[in-house]
Amino acid sequence: MINTLRKSIRQYKKQSLLSPLFVTGEVIIEMLIPYLVGVLIDNGILKGNMPYITRAGLLLLIITVVSLVLGAGASYFSAHAAAGFAANLRKDMFYHVQDFSFENIDKFSSSSLVTRMTTDVNNVQMSYQMLIRIAVRAPMMLIVSIIMSLIISPRLSLIFVVIAPVFVILMALIIKCVNPYFPKIFRGYDRMNQVVRENVRGIREVKTYVQEEAQTVKFKKSSGFIYKLFATAQKIMSLNSMVVMAVLSISNLAICWFGAREIVGGSLQPGQLISMFSYSNSVLNSLNILAMIFTQLVVSAASGRRIADVINEKPSIENPRKPLKHVTNGEVIFDHVNFKYNPDDRNLALNDINLKIEPGETIGIIGKTGSSKSTLVAMIPRLYDTDSGAVRVSGHNVKSYDLKTLRDNVAVVLQNNVLFSGTIKENLKWGNENATDEEILTASKIAHADDFISEMPDQYETIVEQGGNNISGGQKQRITIARALLKKPKILILDDSTSAVDTHTEREIREALATNMPETTKIIISQRIVSIKDADRIVVMDEGKIQDIGTHDELIERNALYSSIAKFQEEQKK
Ligand SMILES: Nc1ncnc2c1ncn2[C@@H]1O[C@H](COP(=O)(O)OP(=O)(O)OP(=O)(O)O)[C@@H](O)[C@H]1O
Ligand SMILES: [Mg+2]
Repeated sequence: MINTLRKSIRQYKKQSLLSPLFVTGEVIIEMLIPYLVGVLIDNGILKGNMPYITRAGLLLLIITVVSLVLGAGASYFSAHAAAGFAANLRKDMFYHVQDFSFENIDKFSSSSLVTRMTTDVNNVQMSYQMLIRIAVRAPMMLIVSIIMSLIISPRLSLIFVVIAPVFVILMALIIKCVNPYFPKIFRGYDRMNQVVRENVRGIREVKTYVQEEAQTVKFKKSSGFIYKLFATAQKIMSLNSMVVMAVLSISNLAICWFGAREIVGGSLQPGQLISMFSYSNSVLNSLNILAMIFTQLVVSAASGRRIADVINEKPSIENPRKPLKHVTNGEVIFDHVNFKYNPDDRNLALNDINLKIEPGETIGIIGKTGSSKSTLVAMIPRLYDTDSGAVRVSGHNVKSYDLKTLRDNVAVVLQNNVLFSGTIKENLKWGNENATDEEILTASKIAHADDFISEMPDQYETIVEQGGNNISGGQKQRITIARALLKKPKILILDDSTSAVDTHTEREIREALATNMPETTKIIISQRIVSIKDADRIVVMDEGKIQDIGTHDELIERNALYSSIAKFQEEQKK
């Protein structure tokens, strides 16, 4: 995990090194202060030596300023390095997720990907900032304080030998109790984010089904779960300060007791005793900070692992080594294709599919919901890969094509297509970024999108709100069809893409496609018989299998499922 994350430090290596360097300087200088104060008391104040006091005072002032400057430098560099590191982590994850196949995304779930890019990265950022500053400072302070104490009074320093292990053991116990809470808290965050995401994205459904209260309860539950765990973890952590106070008081008492005896015996100066107090405070403080850092590191190790999992995930669909960069025609062949979404699924999503589609042919696909119509067409642009058997486009296995070439030539209007925030034109240009205004107009006319776009106040420059909320369902479908047409594909797949368009307009779109794109193979999935009845051939899907293939008339004649759907829809019209 560390190796994976380390790669994202990149251009922030310099700051990451400067921070500990500045901290080192800061600690060494800062630790001289108690020593100098002791010397100032013993040699200046107690002896009434004014010039000595002035000189030592000045030196103290200079040292304090230098230590402050070094401290500020360390803070700056550590914050800068950690923020940069976090930005790189987010970027690396985001770029990598772009290469994910649908299978990879299914595996992580999109809300978990969002949590990983936000909350988890924040945790790692905080820890990294600690790691290159406080985590250097605390052990350094510990070591320097012990060395300075040894210089002043080796005998009094023995107190630390007794007290420090007791302190470490108590702290370790507290950490051990608190650690198991954090992974649970993270999973709680995942769940809460999922609730929030679902709610915000589906706010229209929430309102129409009057689910506000149920949703609020769901949110309260997931948020309360996090609160409860956090509160318990905090309660345990608050024992920390009690232990620190207790140990600190005991050690100060011990130093007082033994120190006073040494002063009486003449082997210690009063100023030295005061220095010893400061160093003993530093020792325990550093141990306390180390304990806190350790806890934070354990917390963010969980986050780090979640981030590394994303960065190390191998895209399940990758470009072949010597990819084909040209698709000659729109022929599609399914050759004994089998496919499952998950290896443990009981049923095959595609079960021994054999189908040959000629270039320029129009194929209709119909079948009950869940009969794998969308799954079938997802194989053509390699949104998923087959488990066995092969899908061939224009004579070559889809796996041998360059992915971009393949997907440019196989345009799919997905069932749940979305528009992105930006203008309508920008959205259309997803199909072809170099499309001219004329090409955009032609495509929009074929998709019957031009009639409503040209009536909008800003026409093609109209802003599409997030998720396309200011555009009706049928309009959105027509824009997504136009967007697909701009690719000038060899194969065009419309997955229930005109379900929200009225049947009259739908027929016009179909006719426009037939006259303007005669060479393009058209695969039209629909629940409506009228949408596919004019197709050259119709495929009837049932439970992942091709149940029948034929023309409308043939199927009406011989296929019970098809003719019952046709009869039902005919009756509905009346
Ligand atoms: N991403 C996925 N992960 C796991 N299972 C899936 C996934 N997508 C679809 N399935 C399952 O595969 C089967 C076929 O789904 P598919 O979406 O292909 O059906 P469909 O015929 O297009 O249905 P509809 O008419 O409702 O669009 C269903 O049982 C579905 O639950
Ligand atoms: Mg579907």
